[in-house]
Amino acid sequence: MAVIAGNWKMHHGPNEALDFLSDFDVDAVPSSHELIVFPSNLSLHALATAEQRDSRVQVGVQNVYWEDSGAFTGEISASMAKDAGAAFALIGHSERRHVFGETDLQTQWKVDIVVSSGLVPVLCVGETIEERKAGLVEEVILRQLEVALDSLCSAPRFLVAYEPVWAIGTGETATPEDATFAHGTLRRRLERALSAPHASRVPILYGGSVKPGNAAELMEARDVDGLLVGGASLDATSFSQIAAAAG
Ligand code: 13P
Repeated sequence: MAVIAGNWKMHHGPNEALDFLSDFDVDAVPSSHELIVFPSNLSLHALATAEQRDSRVQVGVQNVYWEDSGAFTGEISASMAKDAGAAFALIGHSERRHVFGETDLQTQWKVDIVVSSGLVPVLCVGETIEERKAGLVEEVILRQLEVALDSLCSAPRFLVAYEPVWAIGTGETATPEDATFAHGTLRRRLERALSAPHASRVPILYGGSVKPGNAAELMEARDVDGLLVGGASLDATSFSQIAAAAG
């Protein structure tokens, strides 16, 4: 079973989200795949409650605030996202960390509230090109995982996404060997925190310039259990081609 997820970032308002659903050919996707879409906050409720939504297409929120309610203009909470129909929450996406300056500690707080709200967290980790050149891949991704590990391990279910920052939106993709190294590093750390059988069931997704043409090769890499797709998930045809290519 593979998890194929689409992160729409700041694209697709409610009407475009519904158009995507009408165009998305869920039957072209092997029934063993789990499908998740992360729409914008404004489109989430429309997508989660759409009549034409196949129940296989699950919905998640791209980001939440770390408090449950209060005077935080412009923010949304995990419980609101759940109420609107989200089942998953992306936390620590590279754009949250590097465009909006989110820290490891804030990421930890967000994972805490996501878990206590009953959403399934998808923790994103990944190194910058400078960190990669300095040989820090292992150190960076382990630090980003470990800060949230206690909370994650207390959740009934969680996912991790390895998204090297230099591969996001650049057309550059990690090689299957790069992905195997990073995913294996994360898996071994999960095995230390959980029993080995439990750790083997935590899906570790790869993200960063995934396209229909490279999805199969990436999915074949060891410890890659699914894909987190940005730009190529916006088009219903290319997203279903990726899901179909994923095995
Ligand atoms: P791209 O697929 O556009 O590189 O984005 C990846 C990503 O950030 C998914 O969360």
